[in-house]
Amino acid sequence: MKIANLFILTLIFTAHITFAQTKKTGKATHQQMNTFISNLMSKMTLDEKIGQLNLLTGGEATTGSVVSTDVESKIKKGQVGGIFSLTTPARIRKAQEIAVNQTRLKIPIIFGQDVIHGYKTTFPIPLALSSTWNMEMIKKTARIAAIEATADGLNWTFSPMVDISRDPRWGRISEGSGEDTYLGSEIARAMVKGYQGDDLAKYNTMMACVKHFALYGASEAGRDYNTTDMSLDRMYNEYLPPYKAALDAGAGSIMTSFNDINGVPATANKWLMTDLLRKEWGFKGLVVTDYTAVNELIDHGLGDLKAVSALSINAGVDMDMVGEGFLTTLKKSVQEGKVKAQRIDEACRLVLEAKYKLGLFDDPFRYCNEERAKTEILKPEHLAFAREVAAESFVLLKNENQTLPLKKTGTIALIGPLANTGANMPGTWSVNSDLANTASLLTGMKAVLGKQVKVVHCLGSNLVTDEAYQQRATMFGRDIPRDNRPEAEVIKEAVELAKTADVVIAALGESSEMSGEASSRTNLEIPEVQQRLLQALLKTGKPVVLVLFTGRPLVLNWEQQNVPAILNVWFGGTETAKAITDVLFGDVNPSGKLTATFPQNVGQIPLYYAHKNTGRPLADGKWFSKFRSNYLDVSNEPLYPFGYGLSYTSFAYSNLRLSKNSFKPGESITASIDIKNIGSREGKEVVQLYIRDLVGSSTRPVKELKAFQKISLKPGESKTVSFKLTENDLKFYNTALRFVAEPGDFNLFIGGNSRDVLETKFSLRN
Ligand code: BGC
Repeated sequence: MKIANLFILTLIFTAHITFAQTKKTGKATHQQMNTFISNLMSKMTLDEKIGQLNLLTGGEATTGSVVSTDVESKIKKGQVGGIFSLTTPARIRKAQEIAVNQTRLKIPIIFGQDVIHGYKTTFPIPLALSSTWNMEMIKKTARIAAIEATADGLNWTFSPMVDISRDPRWGRISEGSGEDTYLGSEIARAMVKGYQGDDLAKYNTMMACVKHFALYGASEAGRDYNTTDMSLDRMYNEYLPPYKAALDAGAGSIMTSFNDINGVPATANKWLMTDLLRKEWGFKGLVVTDYTAVNELIDHGLGDLKAVSALSINAGVDMDMVGEGFLTTLKKSVQEGKVKAQRIDEACRLVLEAKYKLGLFDDPFRYCNEERAKTEILKPEHLAFAREVAAESFVLLKNENQTLPLKKTGTIALIGPLANTGANMPGTWSVNSDLANTASLLTGMKAVLGKQVKVVHCLGSNLVTDEAYQQRATMFGRDIPRDNRPEAEVIKEAVELAKTADVVIAALGESSEMSGEASSRTNLEIPEVQQRLLQALLKTGKPVVLVLFTGRPLVLNWEQQNVPAILNVWFGGTETAKAITDVLFGDVNPSGKLTATFPQNVGQIPLYYAHKNTGRPLADGKWFSKFRSNYLDVSNEPLYPFGYGLSYTSFAYSNLRLSKNSFKPGESITASIDIKNIGSREGKEVVQLYIRDLVGSSTRPVKELKAFQKISLKPGESKTVSFKLTENDLKFYNTALRFVAEPGDFNLFIGGNSRDVLETKFSLRN
């Protein structure tokens, strides 16, 4: 997001040369691809092969302090395999023309970008998206992102981010799907399918890049880029499955993570990149580093640039993002026998294969269509869908005495630092969003409500008291105005305004850059100055609704005890403001469910529902017993459990039953439950099934999500929801890392969150 050295290419347009050897239309066979690439590689020098392994920025650095320079002359020298963060058909066409007209072998460039949660039409941040529990919806967000991004010239996205995280201190928890392995794997699959469709060579599909491999979400103390040290049991059962699910769904590429894993950083980790990824999982696609991750191996303490570049490629990495260690040192390492020429060949082949599959050899300009850029970006139907998705991602955390939904009459006081900032609505990692034209909650709400409701507004408080902290928390143009009058004066103004209204909406929480990359926090409460504002607003006696903006689980004990209604809206993308209005005023009934546990305090972290039991678990209903696994000062419970979220209606669960009490491998068992809408509004409910493996050869979690269904029920309506389980659903990696189901007894739970469930039992027999 830092703009520097704009990459401006000034080459004269010349007709492109296509590769006559390839088919013009349709999918080429694997054999055709191999023959084509072998022919091409037989003509390539070692330098040209190494050039293909070089991925540069288009001059607009998105992260990190290093910015690629002399990109144009490097392309001409055949030293660039890919470029990222360069957009629009015109600019991409210019760069591609150099590659296909002015280099010896005319090899096209691949163009990437962090298209994370939508492109120009921005959807909710991934943590919010996961809260929809709606796989079709999530897939469609990726599909639309690909349609818009490819219309703007791109063909490779650095998404999905599938890092499981159980540490809300880590700012990047906002970029993933939360804490759960099963749900995270489902979402990973949906996103890959959405981006890639069924044919990568199609003009509107793009290659996915699964990231960050691996275990990045388990960085110690939630501090970004920090060390990870993890048992194989935990890796295989809890953290690795979403990466594998994305690859099994066909993701064409994977990105290394920055972190150290059990003593070897991922980017130099041969066990990870070769033994696990290639040999065990059989991945045949492209491995790219994260931003300057090869160079960072120097600071990890693994040697100089030449040594770490050799380490990285020998570990199984193919493409070097931004750092140019491969470009500048690998030839020498090959000459010295430290890297085999064959390894360079393998890596080069994988880069060329990606380009081939994207259809770039057939037509290097297939993604450069100005007409599409004009018509397919920010289409009305994309925006309408973004509004629907945003509303479905919100989680209603509390709603005492049916404070919500609000009536469309009277006066609303919309107060708080997040109330009038359009630039913060898209959320972190939305580099393509048009910040200036994104409605703030204030402008969006006014536009939706028109004259029916009078909306009055003031800032009420700064985001945080410390100005330097606010600057760090509002980078990349995500400004929030500051009021430098004494705090008491600013709050008093808000209180006076609140008194004139029928209802107060307090728009509080985090700014969008308080989560995301390098935005770790150790205090997870709403900033104190905002809490003081909230307390003052509550004292007016007016009904107060807290509209909570956040990119992570926050600590909300006081708010839960004192505020009548809390709607967690995360960061909802381009259409956030309209979607919030839809939900607050009852046009949409909220149905989001948390995918990451909200703790009672930071000291409980990591806190997640699928924990192990320990040998001294607490008895049910207790919150402290001496010599049991607990704390003196707080119970073990979360504030809001995984899977939790309210609706404007209520659902009653009853009659949990099984088709049989036991089953054998090869058979299945069906669990059914009746769900009734016992309120007065139509609503959606996420019905969640968990199991517990009661006896295992290794310890098993107290609950594990194994299935879910999202249903819609009219007032008074009942539905029976059934889930079929097979032996496969009971499998886990044992201590020998074999994926097995062990015969024995299981508990089965179904409910609307991970805590409030009905329970039964079954057995798997030999
Ligand atoms: C991030 C990646 C991102 C890359 C390229 C890095 O700092 O960790 O997630 O894809 O930059 O922008």
